[in-house]
Amino acid sequence: TRPKVVITRNLGPETMPLLLNRDDIDVVLWPEDSYCDRKWLLENIRGAAGLLVMLSDRVDTELLDAAGPSLKVLSTMSVGYEHVPLPELVKRNVRLGYTPDVLTDAVADIAIMLALMASRNAEEVTQLVRKGEWYKQPWSPFLFCGPQLSASTIHPERTAGFIGFGRIAQATLRRLVPFGINTCLYSGNPSTPADPAADAALAAQLGVRTLRRVPLAELAAQSDVVFVLAPGGPATQHIVDAPFLRAMKPTAVLVNAARGTLVDTDALVTALRENWIWGAGLDVLEGEPVIHADHPLVKEPRCTVLPHIGSASIETRQAMAKMAAENLLGGVLDQAMSAEVVGTK
Ligand code: GLV
Ligand code: GLV
Repeated sequence: TRPKVVITRNLGPETMPLLLNRDDIDVVLWPEDSYCDRKWLLENIRGAAGLLVMLSDRVDTELLDAAGPSLKVLSTMSVGYEHVPLPELVKRNVRLGYTPDVLTDAVADIAIMLALMASRNAEEVTQLVRKGEWYKQPWSPFLFCGPQLSASTIHPERTAGFIGFGRIAQATLRRLVPFGINTCLYSGNPSTPADPAADAALAAQLGVRTLRRVPLAELAAQSDVVFVLAPGGPATQHIVDAPFLRAMKPTAVLVNAARGTLVDTDALVTALRENWIWGAGLDVLEGEPVIHADHPLVKEPRCTVLPHIGSASIETRQAMAKMAAENLLGGVLDQAMSAEVVGTK
């Protein structure tokens, strides 16, 4: 009998034919354009060789147990995989496919957009225009002004700080170089030694004058813009907390395009209300997607909240869907995957 694969969402007309037009697998597809029903999934996963999931699906031991020993591969259409119990996959010898690289540029674009929106008060001023209240603000020399992201004659030195310095962070930094941002600070795992020679080589490659790994407190204090671009999970939970935000410059902005759990929500609300920092641009929030209009960060005028659209360009989502499908096939047919999380095989 042919191996069965279960897919929790229709991946669209570009990708589905790659899976459906084959005679070496049986595809079971959640038929609706809504969250995959848990009961349906538990029933259909029985005896499957492959499972393709979204970020919004919960993968846990109950689901893996329901699948049984036939399961060879889990493919997630995301670069992050905190929704997946990696040690359980390792234990069961299940390979894990994910979608790095293809979304790096789309997420870096959004990080830049959020930095610009946060520094130039985009949320506050677009709301005002929408409400028809532009005319109520008599023009004055400093009306609507915010700190400039790019270097200027007043501030020729600009520093960007990165919590997490992987592919997306480096793509974001590449975009900041033409803005005249000449210093890059990043935080790293304190248990691995700093490597100034590697930093110098990377600085030359990216075109920044200075690139250094620093402790978090120094990163907070020195940066004009802080980008949170690290994986989620217990190790990074609330890495941006009240002391971090307290240490930031009052003209600095915070951007989070990683996971909501990295930023302490209550601390950020206080930081914005009490002007510890200038503003924030968030693509992710703790507790998403159940975020109501009265959420304190949604109500903050100096905070832009996007509904996790970092990778949501048409081009990128198509590439992610295709990669997730290829990873699924690779795993089921015991072949190479486009991108596999190492350690599971
Ligand atoms: C998006 O957040 C992803 O992990 O792909
Ligand atoms: C994710 O792709 C990262 O390494 O930043």
